[in-house]
Amino acid sequence: MSGSVMLLAADAHTPSQGVSYLVTALYIVAFGMFIYGLSGLTGPKTAVRGNWIAAVGMGVAVVATLISVYNNGSNGDDGETVGVPTINWILIAAGLIIGVALGIPPALKTKMTAMPQLVALFNGVGGGTVALIAWSEFIETSGFSDFHGTEPASPLVIGSLIAAIIGSISFWGSLVAFSKLQEILPKGLEKFFVGNAKVFQVANIALLALSVGIAIFLGVQATDGGGASTWWIVGLLIAAGVMGLFVVFPIGGADMPVVISLLNAMTGLSAAAAGIALDNTALIVAGMIVGASGSILTNLMATAMNRSIPAIVFGSFGGGDAGGAVGPGGDQGTVKATSAADAAIQMAYAGQVIVVPGYGLAVAQAQHAVKDMASILESKGVEVKYAIHPVAGRMPGHMNVLLAEADVEYDSMKEMDDINGEFSRTDVTIVIGANDVTNPAARNDPSSPIHGMPILNVDQSRSVIVLKRSMSSGYAGIENPLFFADQTSMLFGDAKKSVGAVIEELKAL
Ligand code: TAP
Repeated sequence: MSGSVMLLAADAHTPSQGVSYLVTALYIVAFGMFIYGLSGLTGPKTAVRGNWIAAVGMGVAVVATLISVYNNGSNGDDGETVGVPTINWILIAAGLIIGVALGIPPALKTKMTAMPQLVALFNGVGGGTVALIAWSEFIETSGFSDFHGTEPASPLVIGSLIAAIIGSISFWGSLVAFSKLQEILPKGLEKFFVGNAKVFQVANIALLALSVGIAIFLGVQATDGGGASTWWIVGLLIAAGVMGLFVVFPIGGADMPVVISLLNAMTGLSAAAAGIALDNTALIVAGMIVGASGSILTNLMATAMNRSIPAIVFGSFGGGDAGGAVGPGGDQGTVKATSAADAAIQMAYAGQVIVVPGYGLAVAQAQHAVKDMASILESKGVEVKYAIHPVAGRMPGHMNVLLAEADVEYDSMKEMDDINGEFSRTDVTIVIGANDVTNPAARNDPSSPIHGMPILNVDQSRSVIVLKRSMSSGYAGIENPLFFADQTSMLFGDAKKSVGAVIEELKAL
């Protein structure tokens, strides 16, 4: 997204014919690369290559945009050569240097577990840029009244106003999302917003009405050719920005990945609106791709959690991070504790073992130990597979990325639909720091808050070993009947330490 906003540097007028064709051809190449790159993100094997292809495509689009700017500058409307003002090139070069200097180091250094906040920050930069562009267009076109001198001006004016509202919401909302995930918000402030969520919902409706009201006023003024004072657009940006803060502040930290994906989609749409305002096709296409893919991802995440997007944005479910205590089982039955030695024996003599990773594996950073354990089991003739739930962990692809980091073969990572039929034929399933994604209540208990959420059918396995530290709940804050089932035994402790202990026992067998 932050790449696509660089295209905002172009404010296209009519370039000379030949160069115009070249720019169009380069844009088409860039669009092809965006779409081809995006298709690579559908699987872990092709994801890195897909990312590179899309990034190079963005480079091509930026070069095409710069050629277009140069072409506009060297051929004035009256055909006279006017040249490109030197200051523009200096600003563009400065922008590129600052962007590279600020963007590359964190992208290289940030740990996988901190990726959501990095994405939030990059996304916020995109939204903020779009809002600033709308503001600068307002000033440059005397309050949109002489918008590029084009007729009809209304789509351009509407595009700018939409870009201003969504860009500002996205910028401020993303900053709050970043601060929450980075845990730099004072806890008292967060509690205050969560406790008064209803009040802020009402305030948000008022702020939305105010933003739209100002936008309509500005649009009418522009159509009348009058052009309102700059304070109006500043007021609109502030109203939308405060709404962005108020929407995201009360949302639980664990819901942030979904919210970030939603904000990302909004930034894409605001960039597309800015593209309409600037008459820049590349920006419209790049913005729409981000908007569409972000919306699809948000929807997929919400569906995989069996929750609606409004319930995530306005609800209180999952209001904190994992760990809410749910008590020692109540009438669910008894919990059987096991030892590393017993777990090792069970797995060593199994035909097939399925590993179910979850959020706790990420917390414990147990991925390398799990890979070592699997290698030992494989050397003993046991077939090992990994069952990946689409929302295991706290971000899309969380488990795939962690396991890939430990060199687990992509072929042994099985998607939920591909592995669910295998649990009933599996001797031992070892659940490592996963909870909600294995909860049979989602299938069997209509009163459960997660009823309807697709789960991994771990309970159908002949024997289940669960590695976690206590009987605490997962993200959804509910009890898991799997832990009380006859075939289940619990190996309590930090996942990395427990897997390490199992490895020692396996080596001794
Ligand atoms: P959770 O249901 O959150 O359960 C994680 C479990 O890990 C906890 O019960 C915790 O129990 C255990 N744990 C924590 N630290 C541990 C450690 N160091 N060693 C061992 N165990 C540890 O995780 P899940 O099964 O992966 O499900 C993910 C949940 O997050 C779903 O409800 C999903 O809807 C939600 N969610 C996912 C996403 C995405 S995109 N993935 C986004 C938002 C929300 P103890 O405290 O007892 O150890």
